[in-house]
Amino acid sequence: MLRSYRDFKPTSLLTAQLDKLTSDKNSVKIPISNNDKQQFNIHVTILSMGTARIKILENKSTRYELADVLDKEPTKLDITIDKSVKGSVTIQAVNLSSSNSHKVVIRADPLKIEFFNDDLTLVSVINGDQFIFDKDSQSFAFNVEFTDAIKLYGLHHHTVNLELPDTKANNMDPLRLRNSDLAYYEVGSPMAIGIITSGIFLHNAAEQWIDVSYDASSASVRFMVESAALDLFVFTGNTTKDVVRQFVEITGRAHMPQLWTLGYHQCRWSYYTQDDAKEVVAQMDVHDFPMDALWLDIDYTDGYRYFTWNPKNFSDPIEFQANLSSTNRKLVTILDPHIKIDENYPVYANAKGKYFVKWENGSCWPGVSSYLDFLNPDARDYYASWYSYKNFKNSTPTLSGVWNDMNEPSVFDKTTENTMPFEAVHYGNVKHRDIHNIYGFLQTKATHQGLMQRDNGTRRPFVLTRSHFAGSQRYAAMWTGDNTADWPYLRVSYSECMLSNLVGLVFCGADIGGFFNDPEVELVQRWYQAGIWLPFYRGHAQIDTKRREPYLYKDDVQNVIRNALRTRYQHVPVWYTLFYEHTRTGDPVIRPLFYDYPEIMDKDNHILLGSDILARPVMDKGAKSIDITFPGKKDVYWYRIDDGSNTIHRGSETKNFPVDITTSPYFYRGGSIIARKDTIRRSTTDTLNDPFTLHVNLDSANKAVGRLYVDDYTSFDYQNKNLYCYLSMTYLHETGGLLIDQIDGIATNISVNIDHVVINRKISTGDTYSRTEIRTLADGTPLSDFKIVHRLQEEKQVFLKL
Ligand code: NOJ
Repeated sequence: MLRSYRDFKPTSLLTAQLDKLTSDKNSVKIPISNNDKQQFNIHVTILSMGTARIKILENKSTRYELADVLDKEPTKLDITIDKSVKGSVTIQAVNLSSSNSHKVVIRADPLKIEFFNDDLTLVSVINGDQFIFDKDSQSFAFNVEFTDAIKLYGLHHHTVNLELPDTKANNMDPLRLRNSDLAYYEVGSPMAIGIITSGIFLHNAAEQWIDVSYDASSASVRFMVESAALDLFVFTGNTTKDVVRQFVEITGRAHMPQLWTLGYHQCRWSYYTQDDAKEVVAQMDVHDFPMDALWLDIDYTDGYRYFTWNPKNFSDPIEFQANLSSTNRKLVTILDPHIKIDENYPVYANAKGKYFVKWENGSCWPGVSSYLDFLNPDARDYYASWYSYKNFKNSTPTLSGVWNDMNEPSVFDKTTENTMPFEAVHYGNVKHRDIHNIYGFLQTKATHQGLMQRDNGTRRPFVLTRSHFAGSQRYAAMWTGDNTADWPYLRVSYSECMLSNLVGLVFCGADIGGFFNDPEVELVQRWYQAGIWLPFYRGHAQIDTKRREPYLYKDDVQNVIRNALRTRYQHVPVWYTLFYEHTRTGDPVIRPLFYDYPEIMDKDNHILLGSDILARPVMDKGAKSIDITFPGKKDVYWYRIDDGSNTIHRGSETKNFPVDITTSPYFYRGGSIIARKDTIRRSTTDTLNDPFTLHVNLDSANKAVGRLYVDDYTSFDYQNKNLYCYLSMTYLHETGGLLIDQIDGIATNISVNIDHVVINRKISTGDTYSRTEIRTLADGTPLSDFKIVHRLQEEKQVFLKL
């Protein structure tokens, strides 16, 4: 059915009956008719930041309207309705400032809905002649044309490059948004492994197919949707940043992660016994590889009964966790949504008849299983309660994170494409087909609630999820699922995570080394190098692969991996500060170049960490050299950091660089100050009291600024009590010092010690820089004795004369 909507040729055109328009102070309703037969209504509202919301519903609609996805009910702005131009109506928000005067125009005959940005430029159009709205099947289709657009990005979590391909011209299937358990997915495949859009957001969790097409002057998408309501948000913001912020305003932001989650995670399916798992950590220490968390896959359980431990192989979980904790490491365990049917298993027995999705049951790891109905708030409460220390027996605070897997949900049944049949019935008589794509989202919502309750809200939950939806960032980090140990999968991990960052899902990563198959040694090294610039950094491997913990490789390979890990750990303060800035603005943590430099498209192998670090890892087999494009104008300096060459490269240049296996280039932007922790430690916990090193990279006017955020790294006190310290640092060339200002936060007992400052300054001739390390202030005081936070409490601003 949906496929037949692909080449739909309209027979009769739709018209908007403007004479029957009704409105109140913040919404408009317009009936739409086809040959005088009234079919449905368009509801228009305008939300804060100028976002337009278009809902299309029949009279007395029985379509399912999503309830859980939006961060909160968006605020509707008061509107003005202008009917002065015959045959159209213009809707505009009253309260938007003049520089923010987005408008929606509805043209009556034939129906067209046009969206204008704040320069009053037409940015997108829904053409009524391509509209299908089928009352009986509840399916629908519509087109959105992006006028003057040359590239489209979005439809998150497909294994395609950042830029969406022209599905029509390339004779491809439409891109599919249907969360599914895809083993051995292919790179470049339009099969969905998740859902999301940018620029427009269709707030609908049913299966859908999307055609993308480009022509000389515009680009368009055609959505073909299985069921439920048409509820479309249109973000008309002028820049990528505006669109991202508008989208995140609707779907919410991630809260701060605990610090340890930004370190390295060691995982494998499977660490079969607690002794094996302990030995992994011990060997990581023997070989000096930093790590923060050890992960247990499904085998730690008693017969795949979640919230239990295998009595033989994990016979003393308490001792096991204590041992991990004594090394300052955390434990993360997997908990899937299928529940083994076993009357003696209380998670099943107490939920039976109440909290499961109604259908004939499916099968997953434990065999025949029931699936919790996370749409039901009581089922969510029930599931959440299992995370308590009392119910999840032998769990301790060292079990600091949870991994929700197989939550598309995965059902071992090829006839339903390995997921739940669409006819299965949820709470409130809702058919699975209407909520399919948010099943995993709802599981993480319940898990997040469980961890909050377990720790009385004192610790920030960490949940990793495979299935996700718009807004999942409020509850979970995500990874790109079961990739393969091959080069294209390494490359596409960059495209996927940069895109996920543009749609709010900031905490993204991919299995380092590739999940399926055994990676060649070169690939392992390249993956460890590249992975440090993605937010979530975890080595993971499938059960049938050869063991590949970093210490199992030869010394030279270990050195490459160790260097990569150390570089990651040095930059943890940068990640932490950027995550904080995301909580304030919704901005992505990692960014494709076009985010800040729209003139540079299609550089999926370049990445910006915030706006100050450019990385361009090697992601091609046997590469002897790579091209690097430096963004910005000619007077922008990029300081090469990784190789000790002390070279500077200028914006607008593309250069070729020789590489060997030890090379993974990264650069600091001239004009930035990067706060790092350079002391080598075994985990982030071990770095808590370490001093910072400030790397000052002067621009062509000898200026540099940076920001640093610190808090207790664990609790919600930053949110509830403003207990944090958010600093700006400015290098003052004239006076030769650093001015440190507290942007906000109430600094109390948080330590911010600076051990030394490194000044990188261009040498007047040639493109090299000098590197000066300063450990004492001009008056001879060692920098490390200078208690910045204490001084700030007294003076609000401190000046370090260097
Ligand atoms: C599928 C997940 O994607 C993978 O990471 C995990 O190891 C297996 N399930 C087993 O739990």
